[in-house]
Amino acid sequence: MPIIAPSILSADFLHLGKDIEMINSSQADWIHIDVMDGVFVPNISFGIPVVKAVRKATSKILDVHLMIVQPEKYFEAFRDAGADILSFHYEASLHLNRSIARIHELGMKAGVVLNPHTPVTVLSDILPELDLVLIMSVNPGFGGQKFIDNTYKKAEILRKMIQAVGKDIMIEVDGGVDFINAPKLLNTGVDVLVAGNTVFNSADPKAAILKLLTSL
Ligand code: DX5
Ligand code: ZN
Repeated sequence: MPIIAPSILSADFLHLGKDIEMINSSQADWIHIDVMDGVFVPNISFGIPVVKAVRKATSKILDVHLMIVQPEKYFEAFRDAGADILSFHYEASLHLNRSIARIHELGMKAGVVLNPHTPVTVLSDILPELDLVLIMSVNPGFGGQKFIDNTYKKAEILRKMIQAVGKDIMIEVDGGVDFINAPKLLNTGVDVLVAGNTVFNSADPKAAILKLLTSL
């Protein structure tokens, strides 16, 4: 079964608890939390206190996507706030091996995120260390953007690379995921679909989660 990770970037911040309750009673297994610093991406979202608040309201897996420079400075703080999976950008890190080892040492699963222009092949030497690869299917920074079609090809190449490694490494896709591209992505071997707009701007968010989940 694939995993749906609703992105709370598109949630109602004034009533975030209500949206977390919706996810709690849905078939989504993860909650995707987008942290933006206004430097790595041209937008600022929210940070550690929000992760901490969400942690208190759910037992779902907290999938934290760091869109920040010098992510390694904050690994421990996000662990303490309750993150289960910590993903940081390849483009924001000089020492991937050290960062991944640190995330594991802190007891979390480690993911590396690739911007649309970064080929998946840059991960060939580090892949066996990873729990997850997050392929950006939009330029990070904003919800509600158009899906970039090149993502299918990247997911396909990555799936082959993972097969060659022979380990259980998850592929997650983030940005512009909708009911049209979801089945194609799942067919390509994507394990986790992040969805902000498609879930939260739907008249029935729980039904939208189920529809994505069963779209294959
Ligand atoms: C974009 C974020 C995404 C975003 C996805 O920078 O990383 O997680 O919330 O939103 P949608 O699904 O609306 O494209
Ligand atoms: Zn994200």
